[in-house]
Amino acid sequence: MRLESERLVLRPWTHHPDELDRLANLYSRPSLVRFLGVVREPVGRMVDDWAIRMATDPRQVIAAIEVRATGVIAGTVLFNLLPGEHHMEVGWHLHPDSEGHGYATEAGQMVIRRGFSLGVPEVFALVVPKNVRSQRVCRRLGMAHLGRTTRYHDTEYELFHLLSRRRNSVARVRQAARS
Ligand SMILES: CC(C)(COP(=O)(O)OP(=O)(O)OC[C@H]1O[C@@H](n2cnc3c(N)ncnc32)[C@H](O)[C@@H]1OP(=O)(O)O)[C@@H](O)C(=O)NCCC(=O)NCCS
Repeated sequence: MRLESERLVLRPWTHHPDELDRLANLYSRPSLVRFLGVVREPVGRMVDDWAIRMATDPRQVIAAIEVRATGVIAGTVLFNLLPGEHHMEVGWHLHPDSEGHGYATEAGQMVIRRGFSLGVPEVFALVVPKNVRSQRVCRRLGMAHLGRTTRYHDTEYELFHLLSRRRNSVARVRQAARS
């Protein structure tokens, strides 16, 4: 899995010692712990788990967001299965030193485009109500706010949703046929 834009390269995290340090540093930042909780899994195992998840279902992406100009890994972007479901979710985890450049939105766009091109019909995002910045990313991606849900992880989330263009046009044709 490798996706490229002018500014970013999305590719799997590796076991390179610098990357494992960056990963440990990323998931211990208070701005991430606040919304994601404490990650207890050793970082090497996280890299292995993510590789297995992508190999098991190649529609899934859990990738490092590498900034081309500097080589810095800004964070992680996810396009993966929601727990216990066939629906996909999109997510982003940026290091605070890489916020404010549009990297999360751009990486989100890239994995959504890839997922839709592989036939995924729709994607969801779960955001805790206080996570206003993440909700802004969802809105920038054109996702619709569906309201709150307690369906996942025993936690209350704002639920966002985006339909693929293909799905959208099928819905429009069906609606036109009904009217
Ligand atoms: C949520 C999170 C990804 C948002 O980060 P972010 O940097 O605000 O989001 P983006 O990467 O999309 O960047 C958008 C910002 O960059 C700015 N920006 C600067 N240059 C830009 C450019 N060239 N293109 C686009 N945006 C640019 C935008 O104006 C915007 O700032 P604003 O919201 O103050 O207007 C980040 O805070 C984070 O990782 N938090 C911790 C983990 C987390 O909560 N994850 C979500 C769990 S659901």
